[in-house]
Amino acid sequence: MEQKSRSSFSGRVGFVLAAAGSAVGLGNLWRFPYLAAQYGGGIFLLVYLILVVTFGFALMVTEIAIGRKTRLSCIGAYKALDKRFGFLGWIATLVPVIITPYYCVIGGWVMKYLFTFVTGQGMTAADNGGFFDSFIGFDAGSLTATMLDFSGPTPWFLLFVLATTVVVIFGVEKGIERASRFMMPILAVLAIFVAIYSLTIPGAMAGLKYYLLPDFSQFSLSTVLGALGQMFYSMSLAMGIMITYGSYMKKENLLEHSVTQIEVFDTLFAFVAGLMIIPAVVAFNGGDPSQINSGPGLMFVTLPMVFESMHFGEIIGAVFFLLVLFAALTSSISLMETIVSVVMDKTHMKRKPATLVVMVIILLVGIPSCLGYGPWAAIEIIGMQFLDFFDFISNSVLMPIVAVLTCILVGHVIGTKVIADEVKEGAGAFHREKMYHVMIRWIAPVLLVTILVSELLTKVFHLFSI
Ligand code: PHE
Repeated sequence: MEQKSRSSFSGRVGFVLAAAGSAVGLGNLWRFPYLAAQYGGGIFLLVYLILVVTFGFALMVTEIAIGRKTRLSCIGAYKALDKRFGFLGWIATLVPVIITPYYCVIGGWVMKYLFTFVTGQGMTAADNGGFFDSFIGFDAGSLTATMLDFSGPTPWFLLFVLATTVVVIFGVEKGIERASRFMMPILAVLAIFVAIYSLTIPGAMAGLKYYLLPDFSQFSLSTVLGALGQMFYSMSLAMGIMITYGSYMKKENLLEHSVTQIEVFDTLFAFVAGLMIIPAVVAFNGGDPSQINSGPGLMFVTLPMVFESMHFGEIIGAVFFLLVLFAALTSSISLMETIVSVVMDKTHMKRKPATLVVMVIILLVGIPSCLGYGPWAAIEIIGMQFLDFFDFISNSVLMPIVAVLTCILVGHVIGTKVIADEVKEGAGAFHREKMYHVMIRWIAPVLLVTILVSELLTKVFHLFSI
């Protein structure tokens, strides 16, 4: 029953745009640049690119194929492939439940910056971090006052969650497709423009070198884990999202080709975001890459300074943050959509009540991330603030686990042929089938387990040695 009533995208272009709309978001614009800056620049970029074209490709093909084959969202889909792997769907679903709330917190930061630029105060944000720190560190005294005060992050978070909820209530086709169709190309053009401008800032060349030329002495397993987590995050993998999207894809659409296109879109966006931010931040900090203090605030600290140094910076900044807001919304929509779709499948609730229930969960889980740099800054979980902790648990722990188990399920239980056959449907061929096979069966699982175990051990040792 449920399978027949499942709505679908209007065509392949619709599918690619919507999936790219999910993929391109804060992961590319906010997360990629600060991780690249933090993990050694060029070496991170190189490791990232290698992972995207090998493992990222294989995992995205797998997930879309699983969705299209089973026509179920991820919990049902894993179970349909093998009963014993039903739990995997639950872990995968847990990932968006953890990510969405803090994603909406960052979305709220974007709204705040948009508001600041639109109201002509953008230049006050160009003060090398002071504005940003007092924004996220805001504490109005009582909790209620903090929640309601627009100089702090909480009301912006609430607004962002509301905006996401409204689109999800209107359903797959209408909501998602329409929104992502026209915003993305404009964002791409503006990002390229800002990136080119950034490179003309005096001192930017040292940063460009840092970003593009790999320094192999900076390589470590943490670089790989960082790049891996970023790849999952940015390509919306290992969390059931591409399964859900695949379940809306028609059989006659070319799967492999679509994956290639989504990957290219997504990676280009991340690359350009790095170009906008990294050379500029190195330039603003005296030309020495080792001096940059990179963290989740990087984009919010650096971009206003770039805009300040531009003609019409206030206007360009406003337009830019508006587009970033749309990119963030298309992603948060897809995150929320995944959770809602599971709730609908499992409880037979209608879309509207299901969405409202999910909204309440997002609000509750998001509040700690919102307050974690401000009134609740004293609280730390394994040495991290709430937002960083949620980010770590999802990207560096749960997603690698989902990915390993998916590889084992496909590579050693149901066999890669099942996926390959699905890919060939509508296309006739699967060009990178051999690579796919080796990747899923051997390379990816071995790599993932090695990294995961070694990183977790390091963390544990580190914790106990303090
Ligand atoms: N991939 C999106 C981005 O890069 C974020 C996202 C993460 C979207 C997880 C859906 C799921 O911002």
